[in-house]
Amino acid sequence: MNDISKVVLKIENLSYFYESEFNKIDIFKNLNFEMKEGEIIGLLGPSGSGKTTLLNCIGLLDSPKGGKIKILNVECSNANDFERTKIRSKQIGFVFQSHRLLPEFSSVENIIIPQLLLGVDKKIAYKNASELLKLLKLNHRSEHRPAKLSGGEAQRVAIARSVANAPKIILADEPTGNLDIESAKLVFDLLYKIAKMSKISCLIATHNIELAKKMDKIYSIKDKKLKLTKNF
Ligand SMILES: Nc1ncnc2c1ncn2[C@@H]1O[C@H](COP(=O)(O)OP(=O)(O)OP(=O)(O)O)[C@@H](O)[C@H]1O
Ligand SMILES: [Mg+2]
Repeated sequence: MNDISKVVLKIENLSYFYESEFNKIDIFKNLNFEMKEGEIIGLLGPSGSGKTTLLNCIGLLDSPKGGKIKILNVECSNANDFERTKIRSKQIGFVFQSHRLLPEFSSVENIIIPQLLLGVDKKIAYKNASELLKLLKLNHRSEHRPAKLSGGEAQRVAIARSVANAPKIILADEPTGNLDIESAKLVFDLLYKIAKMSKISCLIATHNIELAKKMDKIYSIKDKKLKLTKNF
């Protein structure tokens, strides 16, 4: 990846703390970080170090206590709820540790629904969803509801859903955390392939060092700071 690559995410001096009546706990302070188009970056750090908090801030689900978040060069930290929702639904895809699919809908419907919410034509949404299921080797599970899928299959549907609206960024919070070693590898490899193919940048929090080693870079949260641990 060379230096003229497009920066899709830039955070500047990002800080977060929890405050109660009695005390204030800093989670991270003055983090600086950028992600270029198509980069796949691992986010490591011990439990409680702030990985989920950071992803929630970047995903505009929570607001940082200080600093800036720029997505495609648009400053989002001060955006109102309407703008945040718009940026989130257009530019960001989420994958969580548990699939969070809608239980009463089939695999294909779970991938169609977010597209319909953005105004995509029903037939096009269906075609996109079917192609994604094929890419994720799940065409035979298209009509199954989440309860009828294995953990790895459900996570692959969740990945298809996260890329259905062609986001620029995927934020994944321990996407393979509930899976056995083999399924974790398959799910990660498919996420990697689809992200590289579509030039989607991914920030993936994980405790799995073996998977982290496959990513383009690894950052770690340590002592409330974000450090580049490995640049492959
Ligand atoms: N509502 C809250 N009030 C106070 N502290 C909180 C709250 N939510 C989270 N924390 C604390 O913030 C810190 C960071 O939590 P976070 O969930 O971001 O860590 P994490 O790195 O994702 O951990 P894990 O690897 O276990 O998922 C933790 O110490 C947690 O206890
Ligand atoms: Mg977490």
